[in-house]
Amino acid sequence: MPNSDTSPEIVPTSRRKPKAEITTLGGRELKPATLMMGHGYDPALSEGSLKPPIFLTSTFAFESAAAGKRHFEGITGVREGGAEGLVYSRFNGPNQEIVEDRLGIWDRAEDALVFSSGMSAIATLLLAYCEQGDVVVHSGPLYAATEGFIARQMSRYGVTYVDFPAGAPREEIDSAIARGRDQAEKQGGRLALIFLESPANPTNALVDIEAVSAARDAAFGNDGPPIAIDNTFLGPLWQRPLEHGADIVVYSLTKYAGGHSDLVAGGISGAKSMMDPVRALRNTMGTICDPNTAWMLLRSLETLEIRMRRASENAVKVCDFLKDHPKVEGVGFLGLLREGNQLDIYRRHCTGPGSTFSLFVKGGEAESFRFLDALKIAKLAVSLGGTETLASHPAAMTHLSVPAERKKALGITDNLVRISVGIEDPDDLIADFDQALAAV
Ligand SMILES: Cc1ncc(COP(=O)(O)O)c(C=O)c1O
Repeated sequence: MPNSDTSPEIVPTSRRKPKAEITTLGGRELKPATLMMGHGYDPALSEGSLKPPIFLTSTFAFESAAAGKRHFEGITGVREGGAEGLVYSRFNGPNQEIVEDRLGIWDRAEDALVFSSGMSAIATLLLAYCEQGDVVVHSGPLYAATEGFIARQMSRYGVTYVDFPAGAPREEIDSAIARGRDQAEKQGGRLALIFLESPANPTNALVDIEAVSAARDAAFGNDGPPIAIDNTFLGPLWQRPLEHGADIVVYSLTKYAGGHSDLVAGGISGAKSMMDPVRALRNTMGTICDPNTAWMLLRSLETLEIRMRRASENAVKVCDFLKDHPKVEGVGFLGLLREGNQLDIYRRHCTGPGSTFSLFVKGGEAESFRFLDALKIAKLAVSLGGTETLASHPAAMTHLSVPAERKKALGITDNLVRISVGIEDPDDLIADFDQALAAV
């Protein structure tokens, strides 16, 4: 939580002054796994409560009328430096601020914002960065609702898009950026945002973030559009896109960060200057997550590293079994990449394969459905990144609304089953997949 007002005329009571944060010890930078237990929270501010209470309040009492004025000067931009302290729960609250501080730690980002869902994070981001006539250049596929929001909602406000396939080499990215720029010029706007999703949902295709960043810089110099990337599938543990040229990292925190399939939330992180326009629009629209969800996220972030590690180890074992199974046509798992540009991107950008992958069952929809219906441990549900293993059929479920031609072009086939491996015993999971494949 940021310090409260410290201007000379308004002295905060000592009770409300948080202790200084410790992020290094003896010259050693503390790891996120350590900082998740306490960073951003001072028990002394909450009667010594070791864990943050859930702050169920819609508004925050000012220490004086002058302090109230100062808060609003900051929030409305009348005074430089932004808001200090808390004013009203549509803008922020203690639980949300602690989550934001901790999310920023994972991404090594200066600032972070939490939202009521991944989609409200993405929608607020797009609306904050785009104006009438602008163009968004994006990789494909994107999560279907993101693709739909750009194509069908943003277009209502005169914002169009240009897309390129996730695995595209530098020349193809250069060409997409050039087309985006031309299109924007014709529409009287700018290329306002480059939006990536890597790995892509549901194909797991990786985008070369470094190549996108180099292409943007080659086209625009220092004045290019920000690069935002949906890092839901690998982040925040296995991929840190800010270190590879992205400016804004986007999450459905519903997935690995929440990690227990019991909440819906979103987040973005990056430099403060990148977050500021989005924060201003979030303040206006109220797309922030609620305090209870923020508290649950705090609890989840404490175990994030061990959950994501275990799930990934499980996925390695499960995929090793599946890849040679006679009823399996192929497995799209980052841990099984053996050659080509995807392996090259993986080696440069990722520190682990995560635990969400595509299983291509021999046959089509009927065979895939037989497999799904026979599963006994894995649950048949959309979403991913929870403690339990989930399986779904993107072509008939999450990506049903994607036109057939585009599905074909993106490789979202009728025999693609998406699996998100949880933290169960890996041999039990293998036994489950074995008996379900026998039923195909
Ligand atoms: C990659 C990706 N981005 C964004 C979202 C949207 O997140 P939410 O459901 O939290 O709104 C999802 C949801 O599945 C997703 O898989």
